[in-house]
Amino acid sequence: MNALTPSPRPRVLVARAAFPDLVARLDAVADVSRNADDRVYTPAELRALLADKDGAFITATERIDRELLAACPQLRVISTMTVGYDHIDVAACRQRGIVVTHTPDVLTETTADFGLALLLAAARRVTEAERHLRAGQWTRWSVDFFAGADVHGSVLGIVGMGRIGQAIARRAAGGFGMRVLYHNRHRLPAEVEAAAGGAQYRGLGDLLHESDHVLLALPYSPEARHLISAKELARMKPGATLVNIGRGGLIDEPALAAALQSGQLGAAGLDVFEGEPQVCAELLAAPRTVLTPHIASASIPTRRAMVQLAVDNLLAVLQGRPPLTPVPV
Ligand code: DGY
Repeated sequence: MNALTPSPRPRVLVARAAFPDLVARLDAVADVSRNADDRVYTPAELRALLADKDGAFITATERIDRELLAACPQLRVISTMTVGYDHIDVAACRQRGIVVTHTPDVLTETTADFGLALLLAAARRVTEAERHLRAGQWTRWSVDFFAGADVHGSVLGIVGMGRIGQAIARRAAGGFGMRVLYHNRHRLPAEVEAAAGGAQYRGLGDLLHESDHVLLALPYSPEARHLISAKELARMKPGATLVNIGRGGLIDEPALAAALQSGQLGAAGLDVFEGEPQVCAELLAAPRTVLTPHIASASIPTRRAMVQLAVDNLLAVLQGRPPLTPVPV
């Protein structure tokens, strides 16, 4: 190419259908391939589609691994419209000089709302009671009809006290008068604990033992796989609630189903599953479960903000500027 040859426009794949008005901003700087029918591509399809691309807009349904990266030598930037990035081999991207960006902050409050929604629905048996009513089984009322556990004034143990965990703690303490315990890789500074509803640090075992409700809000890593398995479930208070808005792999799901079946655990509210979109049969059959299809951040304003930020990150890298929100090193 000589000085008179214009440099080719970068090519970008937008791997899932997203708000067209926001995605359209990419057209000014790149040739954009869109996923018109919003199918989830197979790994082989994704590899083939990214083989000649400089940038990718992805979601949690697209896995970026070493095999894919080896087949996509031009890739310079991967922008995921998620805060979690366990679907991306970040180390392999770094080795190839590929920038990886995600969308923290913009989803914090919406996701925290949903954590509380799952806790309330599970502890107070909302969806179970609704299914009973819709099935035409409500023929008589009784004193213990769908009686569950109280949320107000109880003890909430939050595992993973990042931005979302702290937003849940504020709601729990301020809105529901809960005492908040937390477990985290690092203990937080005193002022952060105070701002998070006066949350108190505990080791995982003590947190499980003392909490009426336990909520997982931590990211997935191979070390955290099955962080909650039979041994940890046995440490929880009889009748306690377990909520998961992190990633499904944090829980040994058959062990959780067994704890619900035996009545050792009172209820579970789960938005994420280890093999999603497949949900293990034992969990589907377990009593007192509220199961939702990975929608904790799904409000329209928040999903728009996530797409907007993911697009901004792509534009920045493609135009030679630093990304707004790269994944932490
Ligand atoms: C996230 O942003 O990580 C949510 O779990 C949606 O995938």
